[in-house]
Amino acid sequence: MTTTREPIDAIDARLQHFNYFDQTDSDQKWELFDHARTHAPVVQTDDEASGGPFYLLTRYEDVRHVMEDWETFSSTQSPLVATGVPSLSPIDDDPPFQADMRKLLNPLFSRSALAPYEQPMQETATALIDEWIHDGRVEILNRFAWPYIGRMLIKVIFNDLTEDELNVAQEIALEVAEAATPEVFARLFSICAEYLANAKERGITGDGVLARLVNGTVNGEPIPTDKQIGCLGILVLGGLDTTRAAIGNITYRLTQQPGLEERLRDPAWVRRDMDEFLRLDSPVGAMARVATRDVEIHGVQIRKGERVQARFDAANRDPEKFADPGTLHFDEARGGHAAFGMGVHRCLGSNMARMQIEIAFAELLSRIKNLRLAPDAEIVWASGQSNCLHAVNIEFDRV
Ligand code: HEM
Repeated sequence: MTTTREPIDAIDARLQHFNYFDQTDSDQKWELFDHARTHAPVVQTDDEASGGPFYLLTRYEDVRHVMEDWETFSSTQSPLVATGVPSLSPIDDDPPFQADMRKLLNPLFSRSALAPYEQPMQETATALIDEWIHDGRVEILNRFAWPYIGRMLIKVIFNDLTEDELNVAQEIALEVAEAATPEVFARLFSICAEYLANAKERGITGDGVLARLVNGTVNGEPIPTDKQIGCLGILVLGGLDTTRAAIGNITYRLTQQPGLEERLRDPAWVRRDMDEFLRLDSPVGAMARVATRDVEIHGVQIRKGERVQARFDAANRDPEKFADPGTLHFDEARGGHAAFGMGVHRCLGSNMARMQIEIAFAELLSRIKNLRLAPDAEIVWASGQSNCLHAVNIEFDRV
């Protein structure tokens, strides 16, 4: 076992068996990452239950380096944990295929391409708020964020489906949200395959995601069917948990710091403050990469075929990059956070996520005020790959 120093104390030992699915490890992760950053920046973890062994990277500069050097640190065969789902394109691909897929998809997720969804997003949010505003309290993740994110994501991804097909896809997205079991994943991928086949059969035209996947080419060749299916899959999976977590995390922070709610009533918060929330509570904690050659980081040998776990969340709390990283600071330039990843795989859906978060809080705060945790609220961060709360029970007054 190779680390930058001998495992001389308990915290080193805990790091070596770090399992992000374990609730205790998860609860103590900030302490563990702080320790790793200082004393063991490339520590080998051996836990197989969490997909290991891995070399755990916690320093901002190391995470950035790995994300940018895709030739040495490949995304193929690198998911943190084997999910049993087909390869997801472009997230499980390397350039040039990944880059060509991004060229095909990026225009559909620009802010201007998403503009037609602004009104439906507002309407969806308003309808959901109507359901619980009279109660004076709500659990924000399940009664607002999930259905809002799920319905809109499916509308954008499957914008060229029939109404019936859309309803089925929305139901499955909500099922994925409730229980990400192998059966639900299997259903999601089979429905993606079915919709692609239907789209081909009816000679789909237009400029939606399905049309681009069916009619598009990569390097002059049609996109292989398994890549088309994997692409629809990652669009759904990549956009659900993440943005939902962000809405829950931001709501929680609003209840904790006087004055934050007022800040968010100013539309300028979107450009000025949103990134700081995403930095502090990065919804995607980490991703993995596999070494394509023997390589050394801080004197630690990583052999070809070994994997690294690059922690976006730890990078975002690296004091070398962000002063006082455990606290929200809005009044200074805090650019360059890693919450949407870095390098060629930087999030395809970041514009959409921002727009969904912006509209969610615009609608919420136009209807409710004085957001506070309900007396019976239990704030528990979930274990796993995400930084996400189990539930955010709030009380509020009506505007
Ligand atoms: C706050 C919300 C979101 C966060 C924090 C987030 C975070 C990330 C991160 C960290 C990556 C990089 C993965 C890597 O390097 O391996 C990524 C990639 C990706 N995200 Fe997001 N994401 C969010 C929302 C979305 C949405 C709404 C969609 C769908 C529309 C989406 C689709 C994707 C896709 C397809 C990729 C893979 C891009 C590629 O491999 O080139 N994400 N995201």
